[in-house]
Amino acid sequence: MKIIMLGAPGAGKGTQAKRIAEKYQIPHISTGDIFRSNIKEGTELGMKAKQFMDQGLLVPDEVTIGMLLDRIHQDDCEKGYVLDGFPRTIPQAESLTKALSDRGEAIDYAIDVDVLDENIVNRMSGRRACLTCGATYHVTFAPPAKEGICDVCGAELVLRDDDKPETVQKRLAVYHEQTQPLIDYYKEKGVLHSVDGTKDMEEVFQSITEILGA
Ligand code: AP5
Ligand code: MG
Repeated sequence: MKIIMLGAPGAGKGTQAKRIAEKYQIPHISTGDIFRSNIKEGTELGMKAKQFMDQGLLVPDEVTIGMLLDRIHQDDCEKGYVLDGFPRTIPQAESLTKALSDRGEAIDYAIDVDVLDENIVNRMSGRRACLTCGATYHVTFAPPAKEGICDVCGAELVLRDDDKPETVQKRLAVYHEQTQPLIDYYKEKGVLHSVDGTKDMEEVFQSITEILGA
């Protein structure tokens, strides 16, 4: 099962993708998490990505596409995967379509998690992230058991550098300009499904499992 999560920054793609990955036993591949772990480790890729991410801009396609295609061709992806944060531009989507069709494959589901911009900024200021394992929390809606500490791996939780309100506004603008057109792209391919991302996390997950089937 090959799944793409679409939706604005903060819509809940990561939250839902993690649960999908657990339920269907497929890898959760988040390009944002891959970039953040490279930044944390100080790699060349990380240093390059950081310049763009801190401004709320997209990392260039020539960096992102190759990285993602390498990842989905690894052995653990044989049964499928859930992509979170990729594709984000039409050229990324076209590269993915081509790489898959060269192997006689295609995306099965593109799930758009729909949340209006006005709900997003509040969510982001309350988000806390684990840069070690990628787990995500919210101070009100999904708090960790112990304040400031990741339930999964025990590392310290942080406010992401790009979650400051002014950077969130920029990310939303970039989303509308460059990523929203993918909704039509996948609608035309007949694989688009939308869920109301303003509902609570459990209800959103319920809607997604209805789409994907038990
Ligand atoms: P990325 O890490 O992908 O960030 P994003 O798309 O901006 O999305 P977020 O991770 O901010 O939000 P989310 O939808 O995952 O929401 P979450 O589940 O955390 O990318 C970061 C940057 O990397 C980009 O800006 C770009 O620079 C670069 N990048 C990444 N991929 C790229 C690509 N393909 N091409 C180029 N550049 C790329 O939820 C948000 C908060 O809300 C959490 O606190 C959560 O607990 C809470 N929450 C979730 N669901 C609910 C709910 N139903 N009710 C209440 N609260 C909820
Ligand atoms: Mg995310």
